[in-house]
Amino acid sequence: MIEKMMERRSVRHYTEQMPCRSDIEEILKCGVYSPNALNAQGWEIRVLTNAETIENARNIFKNVMPERAEEPAISHAFPNAPVYIFIANDTESPYSEKDCGILAATITYAAWAKGLGTLIMGSTANYYNTIPELKSNLEELNFSAGYKLQLVIALGYPAETPEIKPRDFSKIQWL
Ligand SMILES: Cc1cc2nc3c(=O)[nH]c(=O)nc-3n(C[C@H](O)[C@H](O)[C@H](O)COP(=O)(O)O)c2cc1C
Repeated sequence: MIEKMMERRSVRHYTEQMPCRSDIEEILKCGVYSPNALNAQGWEIRVLTNAETIENARNIFKNVMPERAEEPAISHAFPNAPVYIFIANDTESPYSEKDCGILAATITYAAWAKGLGTLIMGSTANYYNTIPELKSNLEELNFSAGYKLQLVIALGYPAETPEIKPRDFSKIQWL
């Protein structure tokens, strides 16, 4: 398990193969069992597997931000993943933003354990929240009132093997 965790990378290019529904459900179940403050579960999750809906949002983004429409930028915000997972937090619930981060990390590692790649995207959530042309796409996600989109996760079979990125272990101090 540790070895598998150390191998995880963010994946920005995917094959067309749709992960099977039972795998996605199991991955989400792992996420929902994440540690979260007071077990308040101040999150909502939406799963999008409709290629047309994803493509529609991607095209709006390309039109509004043409300078981000080419590779590699587009793969950092709207990669070609077959599944998009949207995570919103209950803005009334303290710690819910942190809970959403932990939820996203758990989903990412559960997916990796099943041979699936993910990309956690803060930028995409930001675009949905701020680009007026994406407002109806955000509304279609049907989050409850008081919930704010925090993260979007792309999920699918990796079409690349990214290099491991260096880490700075001097940030750890033993006292
Ligand atoms: C909260 C959060 C937001 C992120 N947002 C983006 C993003 O918008 N676009 C992107 O390409 N990567 C995004 N990433 C992925 C990071 O860039 C990536 O995890 C980091 O560079 C380390 O690379 P690795 O995941 O391959 O180890 C995000 C990661 C986290 C945890």
